[in-house]
Amino acid sequence: MSTSLLSLSTIIHTLPLGLQQHLFRVRGVALELAERHGVDAAKVEVAALGHDLYRAMPPDEMLVLARQWRLDVHPVEQRVPILLHGPLAAERLRRDCGVTDTEVLEAVRWHSTGCPGMGKVTLAVFLADKLDPEKAEGSSQLRWVSEVARKSLERAAFLYLSAEIASLVERGSLLHPASVEARNDLIVRLDAAR
Ligand SMILES: [Fe+2]
Ligand SMILES: [Fe+2]
Repeated sequence: MSTSLLSLSTIIHTLPLGLQQHLFRVRGVALELAERHGVDAAKVEVAALGHDLYRAMPPDEMLVLARQWRLDVHPVEQRVPILLHGPLAAERLRRDCGVTDTEVLEAVRWHSTGCPGMGKVTLAVFLADKLDPEKAEGSSQLRWVSEVARKSLERAAFLYLSAEIASLVERGSLLHPASVEARNDLIVRLDAAR
């Protein structure tokens, strides 16, 4: 992982300061969750630091780059190109940082929406991104998700996705099917674990 981290930190230092600070806070939360739940810390660290490499790119440029790299663009992503910043970051890590680990690439790719079959690395990074203390401290709902995440990554992700999907529906916004499938999958997994 050390070569990955070296080239990754070079890229991170080109990002806006606020975004760099978000990446470091997310790394902190993700590593705490990883330790608590026995998740591979090295993988979580690379995914947490790399998840938002394209967050500051204008959305129309995201669409152009995704096409240039021949990534699959879902019709919802076509309408809401900001959703491409995870897939673009995963592709950049693969191309320029030598990241081949499928758990790291999955965690980065799906950090915005979630996806069905989320592994522990993906769950830790997905939740850590939402639980960045800067965002979470002012929200009673996120503080609750954070509490639950101490016990169960799956249950916390289910609660977060349920609230997020309800809020998108309430606002009349598009839903990415990966979020709906992620939530369905978590319900089945949580039921099976009972
Ligand atoms: Fe993001
Ligand atoms: Fe983020």
